[in-house]
Amino acid sequence: MTRGSLVDVSMSLTTMPPTRYQGSKRRLAAWIIGRLAEFDFGTVLDAFAGTGSVAYALKQAGRVVTCNDLLAFNYQIGLALVENHAEQLTPDQVDTLLAPRDGHLYDDFIARTFEGIYFTADENRWLDVVVQNLADVACRHRRALGYFAVYQAAMAKRPYNLFHRRNLYMRTADVARSFGNKVTWDRPFEDHFRRFVNQANEAVFDSGAECVSANRDVLDIAGTFDLVYLDPPYMNSKGVGVDYHHFYHFLEGLTDYDSWGERIDHQSRHLRLQSVASPWTKPGEIRGAFERVFERFSESIVAVSYRSDGIPSVDELVSMIRRFKGRVVCHTCPPSPYALSKNRRTHEVLLIGSRHRTSSVR
Ligand SMILES: C[S@@+](CC[C@H](N)C(=O)[O-])C[C@H]1O[C@@H](n2cnc3c(N)ncnc32)[C@H](O)[C@@H]1O
Repeated sequence: MTRGSLVDVSMSLTTMPPTRYQGSKRRLAAWIIGRLAEFDFGTVLDAFAGTGSVAYALKQAGRVVTCNDLLAFNYQIGLALVENHAEQLTPDQVDTLLAPRDGHLYDDFIARTFEGIYFTADENRWLDVVVQNLADVACRHRRALGYFAVYQAAMAKRPYNLFHRRNLYMRTADVARSFGNKVTWDRPFEDHFRRFVNQANEAVFDSGAECVSANRDVLDIAGTFDLVYLDPPYMNSKGVGVDYHHFYHFLEGLTDYDSWGERIDHQSRHLRLQSVASPWTKPGEIRGAFERVFERFSESIVAVSYRSDGIPSVDELVSMIRRFKGRVVCHTCPPSPYALSKNRRTHEVLLIGSRHRTSSVR
């Protein structure tokens, strides 16, 4: 695929597979790409890429994409779907991944450690085997496709798709339920895994441009980029931020199986990983974090996904970006007809700072 008109691409975007990720921009990717159409850019960084939905759309548009996230499991997703241009997992390779290897001594770390917390005993043993098989796959892109399928299966089988509570009982208790998807929770890991491998295989394509996945703090990313897309963790008007490290610690552990035990916070009831301080979850530090990022990428066009009730406010962000850019435009996304009523009070915005001298906010 050659570098194409973003307007044409935004009209025809097929989205990447669903990822059940908090704050995913998968449904908004076409709208975001359409807003970037007036800019001429070849190299682009998705600096807080999460599951990479915007990076993937930019790859579809033929741009040279760097897809970065601080979490190692998101790095694997970027490897599988953005950096990977050709590798797929064949049915034979999937069968090999799912079976215990003759003569191989498997650790039972998940079964021993997480009994009764997230998954059943059989499911924990399944994870122990498959994750150790995956770690030994030589091709990093094929390995990443397998990780993608394990992560998706693990999220699909969790209440709220998260790991922030010890709540296996929600699946297993014999009570009448008015919510939840017990059929999905109870579907075997293997069924989910095979389905998600198929989805990931189908999403692999060669854009003709080199794309890479990276795993760094936003301020440690090397290089220069024509455009930088920023979708940092959202902090709501009450000062409550999304702590991705906490929500998804179990997927980080699956990705770092051999060191998982050393990284666990044994004081936490649900055995999360030891927390990592982040300015993006602290109301007193988040403004400074934004300032540092805008300064670091002052040479690039910057596009920021945001919500209208976030901390800092949209006006504050516009002022910060304007210190480095001549022009700041604020686009408001039309509300989705499917949005929950409580979400209709806030809306998704995209702030774009560029070097043009005119200044407008709409
Ligand atoms: C709102 S989510 C991004 C969602 C993404 N656009 C998508 O469509 O899936 C914010 C992401 O920022 C990442 N993050 C948090 N702190 C970071 C940091 N200091 N550097 C890089 N990424 C960070 C989190 O791991 C999380 O995936």
